[in-house]
Amino acid sequence: MKLGVNIDHIATLRNARGGFEPNLVEAAKIALKEDILALTMHLREDRRHIKDKDLYDVKSLGAKINLEMAAVEEIQKIALDIIPYSVCLVPERRQEITTEGGLDVLSQKEYLKDFIKPLKEKGILVSLFIDPDLSQADAAKYCGADYIEMHTGSFSEAFEKGDYKKEFDKLKQMAKYAQSLGLKVNAGHGLNYQNVYLMKEIEGLCELNIGHSIISKSIFVGLKTAIEDMLALIK
Ligand code: PXP
Repeated sequence: MKLGVNIDHIATLRNARGGFEPNLVEAAKIALKEDILALTMHLREDRRHIKDKDLYDVKSLGAKINLEMAAVEEIQKIALDIIPYSVCLVPERRQEITTEGGLDVLSQKEYLKDFIKPLKEKGILVSLFIDPDLSQADAAKYCGADYIEMHTGSFSEAFEKGDYKKEFDKLKQMAKYAQSLGLKVNAGHGLNYQNVYLMKEIEGLCELNIGHSIISKSIFVGLKTAIEDMLALIK
């Protein structure tokens, strides 16, 4: 199982003052020295954290980028210019604190099929961020996605409350089903140093995308140690 480190919240902190600190490129350099698969960056339509220049700067380090984005033409153009390692399509609402809920692929599968095509033609791996709902996996397959990323938010909330079995079983069932369709399976959202060990029980999970807990821990121990501690838990 590989780790994608989401560095959006380095940019959130930087943007709080509007200056250059903490420096996102320096953070990316530290993360890239670790045994990670990719740096995950969400270029939101409202540019709340990651800015266009951040993407180009990090790409120029030779980094593998997992670009999270809404399925809109404006960001697609940037993706087609940057050619990240992978793209993960997520839903976006202006007022949300973070990505709430998975993408409803089922209700827009013809649109998404067309949207994904040019990305794949450029060799970009395409992932769809969806709730653990089997019908969404069917729709993801129909659209031509390579991966699904299972939204682990409900599981993470249930874990906090101490009663996570139902949500965890949904993830296990979803992973198995999606794999049976030929999709590769990632997971992310709300994963942290306490709950991440359970992801090892889900067979064949490829990649975990984790941001908030790693960046939070890095305030106390530094980014290098925060990443290494997470890697130790998922190996
Ligand atoms: N995966 C996706 C698709 C996300 O939108 C996010 C949040 O930006 C994450 C993973 C990381 O979630 P967290 O910051 O809770 O670790």
